[in-house]
Amino acid sequence: MPDSQKIYLKDYTPPAYLVDTVHLTFKLSPKSTRVISKIRFRPNPDSDSREFFLHGEHLTLIRAAIDGQECDPAVTDKGLTAQVPDAPFTWEAEVEINPQDNTALEGLYVSNGMYCTQCEAEGFRRITYYPDRPDVMATFTVRIEGDLPVLLSNGNPTASGDGWAEWHDPWPKPSYLFALVAGDLRNHPDTFTTKSGRKVDLNIWVRPDDIDKCAFGMEALKKSMKWDEDVYGREYDLDLFNIVAVDDFNMGAMENKGLNIFNSSCVLASPETATDANFERIEAIIAHEYFHNWTGNRITCRDWFQLCLKEGLTVFRDQSFTGDMRGHGVKRINDVLQLRGRQFSEDQGPLAHPVRPDSFVEINNFYTATIYEKGAEVVGMLKRLVGDDAYGQALDLYFERHDGQAVTIEDWLKVFEDATGRDLIQFKRWYSQAGTPVLTVTDDYSDGTYTLNFKQETPPTPGQDVKQPQVLPIAVGLLGANGDEVQKTVVLEMTKAEQSFSFDGLPAKPVPSILRGFSAPVVLHRDTDNTERAFLLAHDTDAFNKWEAGRDLAKDSLLRMVTDGAAPDTGYLKALAHVLRDNTLDPAYRALLMRTPSQDDIAQTLYESGHTPDPLRIYRAAETMAQAKAQELQDLLPRLYAEMHTPAPYSPNPEPVGKRALQGAVLSLLTRLDGGDQARAQYGAADNMTQQFGALACLLDAETGAKELAVFYDQWAHDRLVIDKWFGLQVAVAAPEKAAGIADSLTKHADFDMKNPNRFRAVFGALSINAAGFHDASGASYRLLADWLIKLDPVNPQTTARMTTAFQSWRRYDEGRQALMRAELERILATENLSSDTSEMVSRILNG
Ligand code: PHE
Ligand code: ZN
Repeated sequence: MPDSQKIYLKDYTPPAYLVDTVHLTFKLSPKSTRVISKIRFRPNPDSDSREFFLHGEHLTLIRAAIDGQECDPAVTDKGLTAQVPDAPFTWEAEVEINPQDNTALEGLYVSNGMYCTQCEAEGFRRITYYPDRPDVMATFTVRIEGDLPVLLSNGNPTASGDGWAEWHDPWPKPSYLFALVAGDLRNHPDTFTTKSGRKVDLNIWVRPDDIDKCAFGMEALKKSMKWDEDVYGREYDLDLFNIVAVDDFNMGAMENKGLNIFNSSCVLASPETATDANFERIEAIIAHEYFHNWTGNRITCRDWFQLCLKEGLTVFRDQSFTGDMRGHGVKRINDVLQLRGRQFSEDQGPLAHPVRPDSFVEINNFYTATIYEKGAEVVGMLKRLVGDDAYGQALDLYFERHDGQAVTIEDWLKVFEDATGRDLIQFKRWYSQAGTPVLTVTDDYSDGTYTLNFKQETPPTPGQDVKQPQVLPIAVGLLGANGDEVQKTVVLEMTKAEQSFSFDGLPAKPVPSILRGFSAPVVLHRDTDNTERAFLLAHDTDAFNKWEAGRDLAKDSLLRMVTDGAAPDTGYLKALAHVLRDNTLDPAYRALLMRTPSQDDIAQTLYESGHTPDPLRIYRAAETMAQAKAQELQDLLPRLYAEMHTPAPYSPNPEPVGKRALQGAVLSLLTRLDGGDQARAQYGAADNMTQQFGALACLLDAETGAKELAVFYDQWAHDRLVIDKWFGLQVAVAAPEKAAGIADSLTKHADFDMKNPNRFRAVFGALSINAAGFHDASGASYRLLADWLIKLDPVNPQTTARMTTAFQSWRRYDEGRQALMRAELERILATENLSSDTSEMVSRILNG
């Protein structure tokens, strides 16, 4: 990718013109929608430039005028320039666009007969000519003309009649938060009264068939509104809050002001069609988008380099919310599993980039695990370092000082400095330095003093060879030989490359519990043994580290199975049996203890320690381990299965969810012993998708579910979201040598539609996470994915580019696989007219 296409943070300049008001009129028509704009501009006193440039792409300009005088701007495929007065003026334009043929799903498009917009990050420029950058904030008034029953935009409705509606959003906003929806929709209504007593109308708008899948989302919305008032003191600020579900959507959901638009998979749920995991995710995403109203919308980003300012903070907020709703221990473990699975592998490969990148070609390629998940970790560390009270004061100051502004990470950190008197210069490295720090710890004990010696080192990442030490909050507790805690959790603040911390007055050498709650996003190295791990698994008072000790035992065993052909570690199996019997432990937590590290995690760890992972060996080790667990636990499994029974009717509340999670984990082992009898019984009796789908997965995994698979399809053929699951599961559980063939045949199924991102991802997302199947030595999966990415790119560049990440870890593997992957990446890159989204990603993956 030539550097000339790159945009740099250091080149930021303020906009030459600011906007006060925007008036838009949409005359909707599938292939020729007219957009008429009337925009009040004024010169920006903080800019030296008087160049008038408006972004615009895929637009046909019909006419333009300045202060009522027709004008003739110079138009390119990126935008236009015009001569304008050095004083406030009115710009008017009419453009024509084609929503029907817009398969990229950016700008205004049609999905199942419904008009819908997606403007983040740079989609508004496909709707009309505009300074499409987040530091230009304006109030929007919108008139929609179209022969559809429901016509929605941001803000509050002001007037409507037959075939038209008008909307006004009083809160100045950047163009990326603009939204419009028009369709034959039904609403699920409710209301919420804010803490100052204002009544807000709430609606979830869906296609008529989906009206029975809105109730849960609505409850989640009300809980989110209440939580943001109680915990952050943030109240909603319009009379109306609308959510719309759309089937064709590139991402999860979008926080448009007062009109959130959701991928239907992230809002629609009923017990019969959605799993427990779906319910939890829906609750979290509804919260996330709602929380953006303050962290993203009222206070927005100056430029797209600051993306983590809204995303990291909002993810941190939705994680806290879910923790409050469903329990912090289990939530933290799930978040760390996500972080390690997605962000650590990104950070360790060619796509590594700082939480605040300093250059990009396509901003769409930076909606990454690093911006979101590591961005959230950075906020969490700040909170841990300054303490809960100071965090609250800093956030209050942030809202007070920056409401209505488009700000930077510097502004964000300054608020913490001013609220706490702390110097955050070094802490700021978390935003600029890519890569996951490796924290190595040793200890010694003499004369009652116990010392922990830490060393931090961050490996080089693309474009960053030398790293500086970062500020690490390291939460530590100490246990005595009898398992009692002799030192409660303290947060050590490490700032140097090497640093020691001592604890006095200890009669004997304690067992340390380090990085409690995963207090910093690092890889922890400690030369320990399985006796100590088993001790921590039995005694640690920290939920996270207790689980981590069990995971380390499992991991250690799996690694030895792969590298030395060792048998599954009996110590681990016995310790697992022991904790599973402990009824004082929450079932959801026990379900997490039952999971073994993913095959990708094992591959990542082997690669880090200088080995070349063999995906097939790892797969076989995982199978052997599962079989050994089933054997070891055979007496316990039927009893545990029965104990985890949940009475009808189905409820998505944490308690039954936890029970079903443990029951599901038990069922997958039981199926290895009983030939699928229990799973078949569960499949037949299930009144909810969690148990129906869980049973189906067990049966398919054991290659004995062909009949149920067919029955499932017939039962659910009418439901797109359930059929996505049907597509995905078959690929996800396919045996290594069969995965590519199954995926290939599914692409020939009548219901496969590459234009629908959910369906495309169901097949190819599943293929790329079936580690042994994706890396089958024949290269068949690599080839199949590349074929389809090449086909999808002209249709939907954004989703294509995201899916290239399946190849990001190519350098981990043996020469044969590397050559196969490289060849496919080069074939994609050589494709004529490849989008800049995909070409940026593939070049980075190849060269990073
Ligand atoms: N801003 C959205 C979110 O995180 C994500 C998104 C980005 C959606 C770009 C669409 C397009 O909530
Ligand atoms: Zn977000």
